[in-house]
Amino acid sequence: MKQADLFNIKGHVAIVTGAASGLGLAYAEVMAENGATVVMADLNPATLEEHVARLKAAGCKVEGAVVDVSDTDALRDAIDGAAKRHGRLDYLFANAGISAGPGTLLTPDGAIDKFDVKAYQRAIDINQTATLMAIRFAVPHMKRQKSGSIVITASIAGIQAEPICGYGYVASKAAVINIARQAAVELAPFNIRVNSIAPGPFLTNIGDGRLKKQPEVVKLFADMVPLGRVANTNEIKGLALLLASPAGSYITGTVIPIDGGATCVSTRGNYSAAIQHDGSNL
Ligand SMILES: NC(=O)c1ccc[n+]([C@@H]2O[C@H](COP(=O)([O-])OP(=O)(O)OC[C@H]3O[C@@H](n4cnc5c(N)ncnc54)[C@H](O)[C@@H]3O)[C@@H](O)[C@H]2O)c1
Repeated sequence: MKQADLFNIKGHVAIVTGAASGLGLAYAEVMAENGATVVMADLNPATLEEHVARLKAAGCKVEGAVVDVSDTDALRDAIDGAAKRHGRLDYLFANAGISAGPGTLLTPDGAIDKFDVKAYQRAIDINQTATLMAIRFAVPHMKRQKSGSIVITASIAGIQAEPICGYGYVASKAAVINIARQAAVELAPFNIRVNSIAPGPFLTNIGDGRLKKQPEVVKLFADMVPLGRVANTNEIKGLALLLASPAGSYITGTVIPIDGGATCVSTRGNYSAAIQHDGSNL
């Protein structure tokens, strides 16, 4: 098969949640720039409108859907609406996600005996339950056409301990990886593939843009990555296109780290020296 056929997604329809920023915006861009129609769902109307207008002006077939993914009825309407308007649904990028606050490496308040149950629950609602519900609402459309590819944005924090991240984050990301595996087994007979991407540190607006605002946090992340830097959101596009397209036709039920090598070393940076539980070294 030629390269053009391997990665051909022309005429297909995608929905991306959390599409107004960061990794979701990168997924939406790579799908749209390669000929798919993309419904960009996000709760931030202003940023969403700005990116939808920019991509439309560049000739892409995109539309915005303002939705809070933790509002189950609104999520169902957005996914059903996308499938009905465009007659099919080929790709779901269940990507919308939030930080659960910093972990113990960044603040003493991130310690397990201090953590805030409200921040924990909000991360579970958005990162975990809304991801499961997005799959639940996309699947009937994909079953009908006997094809589809679902991509979950998990995290390397769902694979291993990440003391930079709060407990709600690591719990929800571990959960969605196994939800994706179970869905992959259940949906394989329908030719629907389900995979998780596990990013390492990418420069986005997550956690109120802490990564962009605080160079010392960027350095902490860069130090835990063998490639020695945080990633640019464009660097997720190739993997997203692979998982959606015919090139990924035999990939299902897996979790793929994209992390500059962070998960392949057992001790990264200098965690045990870095963690001072009174926060005095930060
Ligand atoms: N940036 C990283 O280093 C990193 C690493 C691993 C995993 N991730 C995951 O990537 C995904 C995207 O995060 P990002 O880093 O691009 O962050 P981001 O903040 O730049 O983008 C997230 C987008 O999701 C939207 N969003 C948040 N809550 C929503 C809700 N309830 N309903 C609808 N939209 C909502 C936001 O408005 C924003 O546009 C998340 O699931 C995150 O956990 C990010």
